[in-house]
Amino acid sequence: MTQRAMVTGAGSGLGRAVAQGLAARGCALALVDIDEAAARATAAACPGAPAILVHDLADPAGPAAAVAGAIAALGGLEVVVNNAGYGAAEGFFAMTAALWDRTLDLNLRAVALICSAAGAHMRAAGRGRIVNITSPASRMALPDYAAYAASKAGVDAVTRAAALALAPYGVSVTSVAPGMMDTPMQRVTERQLAALAGRSDIDTFLAERTARIPRGMRTDPETVARAVLWLALDAPDDVTAERLNVSGGLDRD
Ligand SMILES: NC(=O)c1ccc[n+]([C@@H]2O[C@H](COP(=O)([O-])OP(=O)(O)OC[C@H]3O[C@@H](n4cnc5c(N)ncnc54)[C@H](O)[C@@H]3O)[C@@H](O)[C@H]2O)c1
Repeated sequence: MTQRAMVTGAGSGLGRAVAQGLAARGCALALVDIDEAAARATAAACPGAPAILVHDLADPAGPAAAVAGAIAALGGLEVVVNNAGYGAAEGFFAMTAALWDRTLDLNLRAVALICSAAGAHMRAAGRGRIVNITSPASRMALPDYAAYAASKAGVDAVTRAAALALAPYGVSVTSVAPGMMDTPMQRVTERQLAALAGRSDIDTFLAERTARIPRGMRTDPETVARAVLWLALDAPDDVTAERLNVSGGLDRD
């Protein structure tokens, strides 16, 4: 049977790669993004004419509206990939409420609300899979990136809670922690981190960060998407509450 899948933040980076991978596997897709042009560009790169849903998931009503829209557009929902995310670096002693709100509203509250709304639908159907995108940052001490790291630690907590809530109903909830991928978000963040460290030699700064990855290289959205697709479509049903690190050893259990 065709799997019906919703991908958030599908307009760029990892979300686009996941959408393309799911489409290539024959899934019917609903692409959610705040940026309509970006979502349209992803849709144009996918077979099967995906539905495009433009929502601000940081808005309190956005997550439930996106889930309802996906179910209406596809006639049901078996797969959700909670990928949309935002990260910005900010000096620890210059912390602002604005950055915490912006980060947590999208990275954490939206993920929780989508797990709840999509989970309720999947519970009734007796099947489904939710994959949340977390980060190695959730388990690192990052003074200038505290809101982002905390938001992803929250994603880990929500993944475990949702997995437990949904396990009796044949629904799995898992997460993927990507290593550094050269996406628009990552490029901006690393330049902010360099500036906060007083570094203008950006190429050396980036090379030093890459050298800290045990595998010695960064990953890319297409590679990480393969792990997301495995959890969303291929993993045994018993795999739930699990976190899959795809970070070249940067994050290890
Ligand atoms: N890039 C990395 O190195 C890296 C590493 C670990 C984890 N991650 C995580 O991977 C996920 C994808 O990141 P990426 O690097 O592909 O980012 P990206 O910036 O390339 O793409 C993010 C997408 O989310 C959309 N988006 C932003 N705010 C939104 C909102 N309020 N409502 C709806 N959509 C919104 C953007 O329009 C964009 O299409 C994020 O959860 C991120 O935290 C990224």
